[in-house]
Amino acid sequence: MPKLILAYSGGLDTTTAIKWLTVEQGYEVVALNIDVGRSKEQPVVESRGMAAGALKVRVIDAREDFIRYFAFPALAAGAMYQDVYPLATALARPLMAKLLVDVAHEEGATAVAHGCTGKGNDQVRFDVGIQTLDPSLTIVAPTRENAMAREYQIEYLKEHGVDIPWAAKGPFSIDENMWGRSAEAGVLEDPWTEPPAEAYEWTVDPEQAPSSPAYVEIEYQSGMPIRLDGKDIGPVDMVEHLNDLGGKYGVGRIDHIEDRLVGIKSREIYEAPAGLILHSAHRALEAMTLSKQQVRLKKVLAAEYSELIYNGLWFSAHHQDIAAYVASTQRHVTGVVRVKLQRGRAIVVGRKAVHSLYDRGLATYDRGDTYDQSAAVGFINIWGLQTRTQVRTQLLADLPNALRIAMPAEHAEGA
Ligand code: ARG
Repeated sequence: MPKLILAYSGGLDTTTAIKWLTVEQGYEVVALNIDVGRSKEQPVVESRGMAAGALKVRVIDAREDFIRYFAFPALAAGAMYQDVYPLATALARPLMAKLLVDVAHEEGATAVAHGCTGKGNDQVRFDVGIQTLDPSLTIVAPTRENAMAREYQIEYLKEHGVDIPWAAKGPFSIDENMWGRSAEAGVLEDPWTEPPAEAYEWTVDPEQAPSSPAYVEIEYQSGMPIRLDGKDIGPVDMVEHLNDLGGKYGVGRIDHIEDRLVGIKSREIYEAPAGLILHSAHRALEAMTLSKQQVRLKKVLAAEYSELIYNGLWFSAHHQDIAAYVASTQRHVTGVVRVKLQRGRAIVVGRKAVHSLYDRGLATYDRGDTYDQSAAVGFINIWGLQTRTQVRTQLLADLPNALRIAMPAEHAEGA
């Protein structure tokens, strides 16, 4: 029997897939569970996978690698898809693809499988990642090839002697890892409907959050968060701590109509307390340490980078190039940011940086001003030169039209 490595979550879809791949497709299935944090199925993956007939269940704790090599680089780049989504699911997929391929090589498998449907982005991220890393592997996607209704899956498993007590179907389709949680489907499919309380699990309703704020100080070194409230902390603990704290203050809720790669617009509810806090604080530190040109170009590249991650092109030369630029920009992004968490908001209220470009002597309106105000006159003379030349040579002849740039037509005509 050929061997196959299945990305196994422990949920009903991938548990059914173990049986289906064995019975209908003739594979020996190694169930590979990749722990990227916060999965409710984590305690039962081994027993469920074995009960469903896997040859073995392998569990890899990938939480640290996920945060260190996927989430934090995306943070340093400022990557938020469509300005709002910190890319939790999207960032985990290339790591999973990499581990599937590694384990396939270790186990001498010729095929890999995942539980994605044919409607989403995740199938693209898995398939493109796997094809890039090892084009010789066969990719099987049981849910895409042979979608079964939930009741039928449970029935199918029972028929094959797998009797697992499945909890009642939840009202939403959920994906979660340490970098964020997503909820789709059910009543959320109506974009006019406010998400019900049950759509959220990591965060309290901001109205129920404590009325007095909490403060947290995050220290970054070259763009990577390394210390929390003055104490060294590893990446996993940093993110988990901020998820818990942010969640208590109702921070991190996102309600978005998102453009999937496959052309569908979909309503997504996200919770990402740590992601939102760390992105806000990082942005604030960059404002202190990057020039305005660097800030401007970084913003353009952040959008490009988020598209690349979202669209499954993690393993690409384009990524290497953007990453090189981002890493270079982070040389001086070292310092501390103080964030106030209050009723659903994470507000940056203080920042200091080792190599800050903020110069109080230049900025001050008080005594100690080092800025030469008289020099501004010459500067403005040169700065406005092109505009004055153009007005004189081109616009003066057609002044009413030129004024329309500045005012609605009716005002210009009256002028
Ligand atoms: N829309 C998000 C993304 O594409 C979340 C997807 C959640 N995935 C899932 N299988 N429910 O990254």
